[in-house]
Amino acid sequence: MKVLILCTGNSCRSQMAHGWLQSFDPSLEVHSAGTEPASRVNSKAVAAMAEAGVDISSHFPKSVERYLNEEWDYVITVCGGANESCPVFTGKVKHRIHIGFDDPSHATGTDNFIWSEFRRVRDEIKEQFYDFYLRNLKEKETLQPDNAGDKPVFSDSKKDAKEVVKEKYSQIALQESSSGKSSCCGTACCSSGEYSVFSDSYETIEGYVPEADLGLGCGLPTEYAKMKEGDTVVDLGSGAGNDCFVARAIVGESGKVIGIDMTEAMIEKAKANAAKRNYSNVDFLLGDIENIPLDENVADVVVSNCVLNLVPDKQKAFSEIFRILKPGAHLSVSDVVLEGELPDNIKQANEMYAGCVSGAIQKDEYLKIMSDSGLMNIMIQQEKVITVPDEILLNYLSLQELADYKNSGKGIFSITVYADKPMGCNCKCEC
Ligand SMILES: C[S@@+](CC[C@H](N)C(=O)[O-])C[C@H]1O[C@@H](n2cnc3c(N)ncnc32)[C@H](O)[C@@H]1O
Repeated sequence: MKVLILCTGNSCRSQMAHGWLQSFDPSLEVHSAGTEPASRVNSKAVAAMAEAGVDISSHFPKSVERYLNEEWDYVITVCGGANESCPVFTGKVKHRIHIGFDDPSHATGTDNFIWSEFRRVRDEIKEQFYDFYLRNLKEKETLQPDNAGDKPVFSDSKKDAKEVVKEKYSQIALQESSSGKSSCCGTACCSSGEYSVFSDSYETIEGYVPEADLGLGCGLPTEYAKMKEGDTVVDLGSGAGNDCFVARAIVGESGKVIGIDMTEAMIEKAKANAAKRNYSNVDFLLGDIENIPLDENVADVVVSNCVLNLVPDKQKAFSEIFRILKPGAHLSVSDVVLEGELPDNIKQANEMYAGCVSGAIQKDEYLKIMSDSGLMNIMIQQEKVITVPDEILLNYLSLQELADYKNSGKGIFSITVYADKPMGCNCKCEC
């Protein structure tokens, strides 16, 4: 497996990424290069990596020119997204990926601050590249050695996909952040550290709890869910409790809200948020949406925000939702769906930019699964296209491919969709 990591100077981020990836598996062939190579590797980058146990002191910046005539399994650009343009690799490559990081060599301030920036970026690079390694290199090398290069990038088994999701959201839940917003960009994670991709603002909504808002939603299902006082509401994939607390303000003291999440650290965070406010009618349960830990016919309303795309078996998820809804009850869920078959490189661009794409399915298929599970009156309440900036797409597409994509009508969308469980019906058979 041959991987080339690119940025401009090849003196800092690409060198740290090179060092990390090689340390995960010495048998990989990893190189790094830059379009305008510096004279030497940044000494703070070398020292920060040494502190973490990875020696890159023998590395030196190289020009990308020397690698243009080789064939690569992966070319990964690591420049930041906001004010920097990334190099476009014109050589032969199976998968182009962008994982952006801030440039710590541009940090200004006290020495302490500059060091903390180097350490922060070093640790972010480790996390993102380990995730990339687990998802794309480790499994292929051990399980699919013969045709690894032909497989799509996001080809993990269902079990692995769930574990990756759990790991990601644990990290987010445990992350300290003064703003309360998460910093997660890349695979298996519905948000972006650099851009506000999906987020609708909750800040003026009654019941809003800032510590519960990790910026992970892709709609405002509570606005559309027609909840009323006294209702029992179940929020699937409740995270730190953002939608649960808004729901609580609507259902009042006579109602009840139950959040379900499979990530322990999220449940802990949500419970702490509720305890801090002495909310006694909001419960958080650890559980998998494919096997919801609730009896049948308990919910007046089910909501969910940017979660079902992450669940591998969506049929099972919707049949579980159907089971827990009372007859005549309803759901409103926000989620990410696709329209049109997107080529692998566009999926990669979207995933790296926004997350929440690798598990997303076609909108028609999504609606059909809902209908097959017995739900009726299915209606899209809100739909928004997710736009990836050209500067990101151009890391994955040629200018012609970009123009074709823009004219194709294909894309990723966030939708909020409503449905009823039929009245007087406890089964999904012919009632
Ligand atoms: C994108 S976050 C959304 C969190 C929350 N709805 C919000 O808007 O803040 C996805 C959440 O769903 C949870 N999740 C993903 N797959 C799940 C599953 N199969 N069962 C239960 N929870 C799941 C994750 O742990 C994570 O907390």
